Amino acid sequence: MLPKEITPRAIVDYLDQYVIGQDEAKRTLAVAVYAHYRKLSALGRGVETIAKSNVLLIGSSGTGKTLACETLSRLLSVPFVTADATSLAQTRYVNEEIEAMLQRLVDKAGGDVGQAGRGIVFIDEIDKLRASTGESRATSGESVQHALLKIMEGAPVKLGADRYIDTTNILFICGGAFVGLEKIMSRTHGFGFVATSEADNQSILDRLNNRVKPTDLFEFGLIPEFTGRLPVIARFADLTRDMLVRIMSVPKNAIYHQFREIFRAEGVELVVAPRVFEQIAEIAIEYRTGGRSLRGIFEELMTPVLYVVPDHPQICRVEIDSLFEAPRYFKRGAGEPAAAGRAE
Ligand SMILES: Nc1ncnc2c1ncn2[C@@H]1O[C@H](COP(=O)(O)OP(=O)(O)OP(=O)(O)O)[C@@H](O)[C@H]1O
Ligand SMILES: [Mg+2]
Repeated sequence: MLPKEITPRAIVDYLDQYVIGQDEAKRTLAVAVYAHYRKLSALGRGVETIAKSNVLLIGSSGTGKTLACETLSRLLSVPFVTADATSLAQTRYVNEEIEAMLQRLVDKAGGDVGQAGRGIVFIDEIDKLRASTGESRATSGESVQHALLKIMEGAPVKLGADRYIDTTNILFICGGAFVGLEKIMSRTHGFGFVATSEADNQSILDRLNNRVKPTDLFEFGLIPEFTGRLPVIARFADLTRDMLVRIMSVPKNAIYHQFREIFRAEGVELVVAPRVFEQIAEIAIEYRTGGRSLRGIFEELMTPVLYVVPDHPQICRVEIDSLFEAPRYFKRGAGEPAAAGRAE
């Protein structure tokens, strides 16, 4: 089911190519996925049922939760679907939506219901299902949590005419930003673990103190039965300026590489100075959308350049030194930048 060579380490190595930082979360996710499939392969051999370890990914918006899951799905050869909890909460037909999601999983498995029953379902924006104290209980996030509980528990779900999918062995990964959870934690972790001797391992203590407790999630608005079925929690850290800079230039599919490729196809070399990435990172930090705004800012920077270059085949090189200075265009055969940095 899971090829032998796919060890937790191999999963992390693969994620490293696309997801910057978040080492601990990547490790937790990798081990959870690996353990799940090892447990499943033990099923036939004497073991009758497995205790499933569904995963909850917590971290601010734009820190790589969805990216990590999508990347993981590319590596694993198991059926994988993603769903959005917000859309589940907006429909009056939650069960139909859930059925449709499982049907997509079966489609991904080429119609093989058995194989789909060992797939992975990623439900994003799970924090949008927080129980509200308001009146409209019928369409509340809480009722969606109850509907999801059923399949996470392993109920057979009817698909169309007379086909059933057994959800017992499906691995569920839920993700959410959980805005406000830090505040709850800082209140409830007041009497956390304290180092009592020099010998105490500070990193273990930090980890224990940083642990999200089920009661924190409960206070946030997830019902206890629901959090109880998400025993593994991986936290995604807020992105630092350095991580933001690396996101633009390091991953295999980083935006800088993409644009260099576009220009290379025109016979033009694009050179963006490191300082520019730092300036973009600063703006992204102000926007508070994690890595999400990087692409937009970078594309804005590229728009005027892309507008000019295709009409001027004599340009062979474009240099950008600062976000606040005009790009410098170099012509073929001339060592000097074109006059005043313009292409004409
Ligand atoms: N750790 C990271 N490494 C590489 N790229 C990242 C990272 N974090 C964010 N990004 C970039 O930002 C974009 C948005 O990230 P992603 O969709 O994973 O956010 P999220 O954590 O799921 O946020 P939300 O809670 O809002 O759904 C990604 O497509 C990617 O370009
Ligand atoms: Mg997301």
